[in-house]
Amino acid sequence: MRRGDNLEAAKAFRQALARESNIPEAHFGLAQALRPGSDYLEWLETLHLSLHPHVYLEIGVETGRSLRLAASDTYAFGIDPDCRLPPDCRLPPTTRIVSRSSQDFFADSEAVAAFPAPLDFAFIDGDHRFASVLHDFIAVEALAAPNAVIAIHDTWPLNAATAATVRNTGFYTGDCWKIVPCLRAIRPDLHLLTISTLPTGLTLVTALDPASTVLRDRYESILAAFASLPYRPEIALRLALTGNTPDALDQVMAWRATATAKSSRHRPIDRK
Ligand SMILES: C[S@@+](CC[C@H](N)C(=O)[O-])C[C@H]1O[C@@H](n2cnc3c(N)ncnc32)[C@H](O)[C@@H]1O
Repeated sequence: MRRGDNLEAAKAFRQALARESNIPEAHFGLAQALRPGSDYLEWLETLHLSLHPHVYLEIGVETGRSLRLAASDTYAFGIDPDCRLPPDCRLPPTTRIVSRSSQDFFADSEAVAAFPAPLDFAFIDGDHRFASVLHDFIAVEALAAPNAVIAIHDTWPLNAATAATVRNTGFYTGDCWKIVPCLRAIRPDLHLLTISTLPTGLTLVTALDPASTVLRDRYESILAAFASLPYRPEIALRLALTGNTPDALDQVMAWRATATAKSSRHRPIDRK
């Protein structure tokens, strides 16, 4: 890779993984070799700058690498039962972190009522199993402004071993990628775009409908239909993939502008 021969590097990483299927450095190296350009953190930073959200929600904080990208005048709310902020991590006073699982948080009606909805931007990066991500998406959309953007991490898998429901590898992104074919099939009203960013993609969802109950009402049957979807390389065709280029941001901002115009048309007129 230092010589700029990424294809040869990818071949070497694949050879290593053929001998031993769980080498996290080889998985990440393979992603680096094949997926050049901005990584997901650079994209999140760009999105914070472009959307300038009043309220940002993050599920899955870990060391705060993504949460700290929120501007100091954004109210940033993180949810993580096992947050590992380093001692020198300085977050602005507008940041709040709750030490709970997202399922636990969203089941607590008082905690949800105290959340300063509507949110303008959210990042789902907690439990990477499809069932959890679907649950998170439903709860986050219900708290979102119609022109909000929901980002979902790790929706463009590297290979079958790292994209399974059950974790067997150090480098693991789970089967959360199933959320993309699922939403495209069940919620054609949403706009989705999966940016082919390092290491395993970032899906952006716009045209949200916080009042929609389609996913909630059909949760069990949706799970039954999509949880068994097998990973195959051809699945990439169903992931709404787009290049890792600035055009992706232009597209999302255009969809967001349409959603803003639509929601302001439907807002009741204040006759005072
Ligand atoms: C991949 S890390 C998040 C990384 C972080 N967003 C970043 O970009 O640096 C996943 C985090 O999700 C948390 N997590 C796991 N299950 C969760 C759940 N059910 N609800 C919320 N967070 C969860 C884990 O504790 C872990 O810290």
